[in-house]
Amino acid sequence: MTDKLNSGSIETIMKETRAFPPSKSFTDQAHINDSDSYQKIWKDSQKHPEKFWEKEALSLYWHEKWHTTHEWKEPFSKWFLGGKINVSYNCLDRHLPERKDKLAFIWEGEDGSVRKFTYQDLYEEVSQLANAMETELHLKAGDTAAIYMPLIPEAVIAMLACARIGVAHSIVFAGFSATSLKDRIQDAECKVVFTADIGFRRGQVLDLIKTVREATTECPSVVKTILLRRDSLTTLAPKEIDWEKLTTKQSRQHTAQPFDSEHPLFYLYTSGTTGKPKGIVHSSGGYLVGTSVTTKWVFDLKEEDIYWCTADIGWITGHSYVVYGPLSNGATSVIYEGGPLHPHPGRVWEIIDKHQVTILYTAPTAIRAFMRAGDEYPQKYRLNSLRLLGSVGEPINPEAWIWYHQQIGKGRCPIVDTWWQTETGSILIAPIPGVTTLKPGSATKPFPGIVADIVNEEGHSCAANEGGYLIIRHPWPSMLRTIHKNPERFKEQYWSKFKGMYFTGDGAHRDEEGYFWIKGRVDDVINVSGHRLGTMEIESALVSHPRVAEAAVVGRPDELKGQSIVAFVIPRDSKEKINTQSLQQELKTHVAKEIGSLARPDEIIFTKILPKTRSGKIMRRFLKDLAAGKEISGDTTTLENPGLIELIKS
Ligand code: WT7
Repeated sequence: MTDKLNSGSIETIMKETRAFPPSKSFTDQAHINDSDSYQKIWKDSQKHPEKFWEKEALSLYWHEKWHTTHEWKEPFSKWFLGGKINVSYNCLDRHLPERKDKLAFIWEGEDGSVRKFTYQDLYEEVSQLANAMETELHLKAGDTAAIYMPLIPEAVIAMLACARIGVAHSIVFAGFSATSLKDRIQDAECKVVFTADIGFRRGQVLDLIKTVREATTECPSVVKTILLRRDSLTTLAPKEIDWEKLTTKQSRQHTAQPFDSEHPLFYLYTSGTTGKPKGIVHSSGGYLVGTSVTTKWVFDLKEEDIYWCTADIGWITGHSYVVYGPLSNGATSVIYEGGPLHPHPGRVWEIIDKHQVTILYTAPTAIRAFMRAGDEYPQKYRLNSLRLLGSVGEPINPEAWIWYHQQIGKGRCPIVDTWWQTETGSILIAPIPGVTTLKPGSATKPFPGIVADIVNEEGHSCAANEGGYLIIRHPWPSMLRTIHKNPERFKEQYWSKFKGMYFTGDGAHRDEEGYFWIKGRVDDVINVSGHRLGTMEIESALVSHPRVAEAAVVGRPDELKGQSIVAFVIPRDSKEKINTQSLQQELKTHVAKEIGSLARPDEIIFTKILPKTRSGKIMRRFLKDLAAGKEISGDTTTLENPGLIELIKS
């Protein structure tokens, strides 16, 4: 493991790159701009995290205030006990009347069409759907609803309507296959599915309802599918209700009921090291406190900002920084349904120019794609409205950071590199733009109230520049509460490697100034274009194909995607001559069908054997090196077969 933790050239990169102190022009206007008082808040928050969170929680509306800030029965954490809150109320009603005519969302489609929703509009649409859910669908607090939708305002409306009546939503990214959708619906026992007939991406029409119909044939818990018809020719199948018809006669007012602070707001399935994706459970009160305060501080959010987080609501970034964080702060957000480079490579810059976006939050993989497309595209548009840039999802390489800073931010805009996870609910490590000196490639320092550390194999704090495991020492409000139906796995995954510490699964080091440099996963989770996948999931999909005997999947460093997927496969008929080309295609399509096209392997290597230990465990370390075209390093004496692999060529 140590080679994994100390590898990489981050130390050298760090020494080569400059530091960027906060600029005077930005700092003068920033919410938090007094370094000394910020340092005091930060230091106090490290000693007394609860005090920090307690104070921040007061900026939300509580139907009833909590009596106990935090209860910790390791590994189960509860926050704001006794508090009663409604997340939807905090995102909508609280802003009426003073922000009633303020835009909540500006939606843009790939074809350039635009729809705008004020806070009043959003409140009314959410109320209509919430009323219909209660009176027509008989849904109640404690039920679960699946959402399988494109990035359109109705998806957000469905989320807020669920939150409003205490129904936990489980959003499945609309690129996942019918099998993946079915597994998630079954695990969460969803009673209804919200969907649209079609979605649009890169000039293609996505047949979403086909996937939903295929998935729900094996989902007995589902009583109704609520179908938003974007194409007037779509007809309804049994058990489907037309969205429009369901909501149109409903009252445009709805009184939000308070729920317990710990009431589950949503489940979100994400990949782990083993088994099927796990249902991460998030709370109401603690989650909203975390997302709300980080949105305000990390993005220096102001009343007049036009904020654009490019994530899809199918991922945690969409939950926290498209919906709950911005709306709880009364922000105006842009959402865009479509490919970021479609129909032309300047699409994102065109949208920024058109809607005068001031804050852009996107992923390194997208930044690298924009970089590759060429500087002429951002240069065609006015980007002077931008004042802050953000990055999330994977380590940002300093080259991409510098390009983003110069070509997009024109040297004016701070870049906030934000480290967090589906499990953490909100940003845990990131700069505070008015006070933090930035270093390209570093997520800088923990947010106030977050007690992070880097430890070695024995669980002791690492020295400066020594590689180790990133851990969190103290629970925080937006922390996952458990894994749905699997508290054992929750314990095992996050709380068993080091006693009393939350194990993130990431490797990192800290420099002499206490800056965190995150290197990426140390487990069998891979990060492809900012999307998290388990190598085991892809292996299971591969071995479910009749022609596959064994499979081992690894990530290979990829300039554009961060990592690409390489599969080593032992075919069943390995003794016969096989057409590797056509089998490769067949297996790629099979994985895309089983999981979704985001899991489609980039390369499949056919072999007669796989390197295994005496106990039969696949030695992934060697496969990783092989896939990356590196010399095989390290100790091979535990290998059963010194030949490692034996390629099959056709
Ligand atoms: C994993 C979590 C957080 C929302 C999107 C991904 C990696 C995330 C950074 C960053 C370095 C990062 C980590 C983490 N990651 N942000 N700024 N720098 N690595 O959420 O799908 O749960 O993935 O993404 O490896 O563990 P996720």
